[in-house]
Amino acid sequence: MPPLRREDALFSWFEKLHGPEWGSVLDSGTGDHSLGWLASLSPRALTAVTVEAWRMAGLAQVAPHARVLLGQWTDPLLLAGETFDVVLSDYVIGAIDGHAPYFQYGYLERIRPHVGDRLYLVGLEPPPRDGSVLDEVCRVRDAAILLAGHRCYREYPREVVLRWVERAGFDVIDSAAFPNRLGERFVNGQLDVAVRKLPLFRDRAVADSFARHIEELRQRALAQVPQVWGADWVIAAKVRR
Ligand SMILES: C[S@@+](CC[C@H](N)C(=O)[O-])C[C@H]1O[C@@H](n2cnc3c(N)ncnc32)[C@H](O)[C@@H]1O
Repeated sequence: MPPLRREDALFSWFEKLHGPEWGSVLDSGTGDHSLGWLASLSPRALTAVTVEAWRMAGLAQVAPHARVLLGQWTDPLLLAGETFDVVLSDYVIGAIDGHAPYFQYGYLERIRPHVGDRLYLVGLEPPPRDGSVLDEVCRVRDAAILLAGHRCYREYPREVVLRWVERAGFDVIDSAAFPNRLGERFVNGQLDVAVRKLPLFRDRAVADSFARHIEELRQRALAQVPQVWGADWVIAAKVRR
């Protein structure tokens, strides 16, 4: 049997815990992976939210029967009065700072009224600041994002999010960490983010030397992967009655 892809390992963890009946489901920060997985579970109804317009066309293809909404969780009218048996937040908490700075601290309270029974969370541990080449890849990516005038993702440790979950009115059922084995796809993916930011740099000389630095780092990093570095986490919780 081929090895499980990472996201399959995380999603399988929820499937084992949950069982076969999914009822109505909300994908609260959707993307091709999470929406594709949820659609494959044949829920009674599937709703998904993203704040990024560029995702919409692809999402319609991934799950033609899902209701996909372009919306912002800071908007109190988004999905007002609607409740779902299951809410999945797949890499949403770490992404919020890029779209609604500081709202991550109130996000779980915001979605609490929409959770009928279960809340399933997926996140990334903050990258280890260990001086490794993969640490360098992440720092160069973030430097490029900042020099382009954009905001970086901000990831949170599982232990912190577990406390937020309890405080927001949920009981934790279980949680787990999955160490990441990262290779070429990761290195190229992160450094390509940096490359896409270069045209937005104010100073062309900085952009040109940054471009050379990215390609030098890419060669160095590609020669050192795969590596086990960092971890994803999953949390399953239910509404406290
Ligand atoms: C990193 S992506 C999630 C990945 C996705 N689950 C997948 O399968 O690839 C974060 C998602 O959360 C959404 N998001 C982040 N902040 C948001 C906010 N304040 N309001 C609504 N959606 C938000 C983004 O638009 C995006 O759809």
